[in-house]
Amino acid sequence: MAMLKLGVLGSGAGSNMQSIVDAIAKGELDAEIKIVLSDVADAKILDRGRRHSIESMHLDCSPWKTKLEGGAEDECIEILKSRGVDTVVLAGFMRIVKPKLLAAFPNRVINIHPALLPAFPGVHGWTQALDYGCKVAGVTVHFVDAGTDSGPIIVQKAVPVLEDDTPESLHARIQVQEHIAYPEALRIIASGDYTIEGRRVRIGGR
Ligand code: GRF
Repeated sequence: MAMLKLGVLGSGAGSNMQSIVDAIAKGELDAEIKIVLSDVADAKILDRGRRHSIESMHLDCSPWKTKLEGGAEDECIEILKSRGVDTVVLAGFMRIVKPKLLAAFPNRVINIHPALLPAFPGVHGWTQALDYGCKVAGVTVHFVDAGTDSGPIIVQKAVPVLEDDTPESLHARIQVQEHIAYPEALRIIASGDYTIEGRRVRIGGR
């Protein structure tokens, strides 16, 4: 059992990062957020980080629009390593991370995806579930591998799809569970009490 040293990467509002900050403050998660990085200069996640006195920086990822590669990837790794980060938390980070970052933090890059994977990878998982006519939707926290939303699953939570749901109302219901699921997954990682066997993350028994 060791305190996690987290580096958070996000592009948006940062509500998942907030749930991690809150879990740490309540003593429910043995971790410290060393740095927040965003590819979006005016992202709310950076304001949130600063409000909590966490070092929060814009990472210029140009010329790429959808991935973290090249000079920006090198810079990202260098920043994370120099802050002593051991676990990279993708919290609404809207870019594909590439093998170099994954190799720098083996089995230590975690993502949250707003769908019950392997259904509906990619963007707007909740809208995909609604359009498909699903009666159940949810959230997945998983280790990141070289694919898109395809790594071994740590935690999943389901929510019902209600008759009068809109994409917004369903996403809001999923986000309530996201904010429970991410601290829970990080607690498992902090405990060290798990093994990754192929696609399966076996929790407990170590
Ligand atoms: C969440 O729905 C998350 O599952 C997805 O992007 C959204 C980020 O929300 N990957 P926030 O920035 O954490 O509020």
